[in-house]
Amino acid sequence: MKSQAAIVFGGASGLGEATARKLAEAGHSVTVADLNEERGEVVADEIGGAFVTADVTEEDSTRDAVAVAADTEGGLRICVNCAGVGAAGRIVGKEGAAPLDGYRWAININLIGTINVLRLAAEAMVGNEPGEHMQRGVCVNTASIAAYDGQIGQTAYAATKGGVVSLTLPAARDLSRSGVRVMTIAPGLFDTPLLALLPEPARKALGDNVPFPSRLGIPEEFGALALHIVENPMLNGEVIRLDGALRMAPR
Ligand SMILES: NC(=O)c1ccc[n+]([C@@H]2O[C@H](COP(=O)([O-])OP(=O)(O)OC[C@H]3O[C@@H](n4cnc5c(N)ncnc54)[C@H](O)[C@@H]3O)[C@@H](O)[C@H]2O)c1
Repeated sequence: MKSQAAIVFGGASGLGEATARKLAEAGHSVTVADLNEERGEVVADEIGGAFVTADVTEEDSTRDAVAVAADTEGGLRICVNCAGVGAAGRIVGKEGAAPLDGYRWAININLIGTINVLRLAAEAMVGNEPGEHMQRGVCVNTASIAAYDGQIGQTAYAATKGGVVSLTLPAARDLSRSGVRVMTIAPGLFDTPLLALLPEPARKALGDNVPFPSRLGIPEEFGALALHIVENPMLNGEVIRLDGALRMAPR
């Protein structure tokens, strides 16, 4: 595949970082966009890409980040959004109803952020000259298997990821006339800084629950799927679970 301009939101860490590295290895020119400047600069430096500070919940900084990535010959062709946060808490806990602000916070970053990135990246892509297969671009979102089997304490998180799953098909349909594909990856349990906070026995126990392979996913495996989606023009409007057959139990 020809080298193309790519942007990875949340590219400073975990799944996004692994994706930025995979895309760069495949010869694409990658812009890393993240709130974490320090780490983002390091990743961008190591892969020979650029870094821009962006908050996916904000219109302006996200638009600016897209503009930086689009300012290349051929325009922006690849957008992967891995920016996201975890959220936990029962809908009614010991202190009563869960605070509404917790839901607003998670929905704002994981769902509104996904929509914001998708709409602005797609807007840049629809102006591209059609490339191979008449394609102008591809956008990859990140959901979670919690969209399907959310556990106790995961109503906020599952709601955000369920929204990302649900918008995948209509977004692909909206953008089909422009030759822009939309796909979502729903990861199971991956060994990223998000999980690194847990003690080793807890991480091992999580991995043991995965049918096969019985371990946590490696971020490179997520990056490899993102790259495959970029390279396979027939993948569109679908959510792919990447979870080693894990179906999460209630707790
Ligand atoms: N690790 C897992 O097991 C797992 C499983 C399922 C889904 N996911 C999802 O994958 C995505 C990436 O998770 P990860 O494990 O790599 O986490 P991570 O914490 O390692 O990386 C997330 C990155 O997103 C950035 N970010 C957070 N809020 C942002 C914002 N408002 N604007 C821009 N950047 C922002 C962070 O700075 C960080 O660099 C998340 O959406 C997460 O919900 C992760």
